[in-house]
Amino acid sequence: MTMIDPDYLEEQLKDSSFYQRILAFQNVTSTNEVARRLAESGAPSGTLVVADRQTAGRGRHGRSWHSPAGMGLWFSLLLRPRHPEDRWYLLPMVISEIVASTLKETLNIPLVVKWPNDVLYQQRKVCGILCESSSSVRAFEYIVAGIGINVNQLEEHFPEALRTQAISLRQIVGHELDRVALLLRLLKALAERLAPAVEGREEVRLRAWQTMCADLGEWVCLEFGEKSIEGVLRRVTDTGELVIEDQQQRLHTISYAEASLKKP
Ligand code: BTN
Repeated sequence: MTMIDPDYLEEQLKDSSFYQRILAFQNVTSTNEVARRLAESGAPSGTLVVADRQTAGRGRHGRSWHSPAGMGLWFSLLLRPRHPEDRWYLLPMVISEIVASTLKETLNIPLVVKWPNDVLYQQRKVCGILCESSSSVRAFEYIVAGIGINVNQLEEHFPEALRTQAISLRQIVGHELDRVALLLRLLKALAERLAPAVEGREEVRLRAWQTMCADLGEWVCLEFGEKSIEGVLRRVTDTGELVIEDQQQRLHTISYAEASLKKP
């Protein structure tokens, strides 16, 4: 197993000023937890925390994230947006778009994104994203974007309960992959795409999310506040609104910030 060497990553990324500090660990509880602690103690935007193994990897909705040694890419990026009032709630979608398109292009495999932020292959999860933001009143003063990608697991490496829900890139392409090379591709794509928004030169927007969206044309249920709407997901705008057509053919546009999408 090749360990992730922070000096090598730094050397390979030296042309970009986006990554300010790179930390790589053999074992951590959770790279998100480490990055949050660093954020609270003033670490700069562009701090990257990578681990070969997480002992308490975190998933969304309080779930755990299986992160065995040397098998995947488990990393978190700390961002301090210049304009925290911008649409940073879109970040999980933006990141899923970047990860899905980079992996699709690099490995030539058909991946899709699932609302709000999973990357799937034939309905099984390849990558999960957990963004956590500062708990201060200024909501997006900092954001920790945690990315977990199943890279080199074989079926037996997943706990039995996950085997029908998760899949690794190795299982898809049929051979072992160079984790570090893949990580560098992803880090370069993330820097290129996120730097303009983090530095306040561009607004946070989606680009190709809709073209990779697994739920488009599907019957979905959108819950927002006390209300809910069921219908066909017709469109996802670049500012994260979901356009749903209900049974009476009426269109409803609901912001991603307010809603949660369920399969009825
Ligand atoms: C999910 O789909 O539930 C989100 C999974 C996010 C997993 C990544 S792995 C790196 C980072 N550190 C964590 O503890 N979680 C995220």
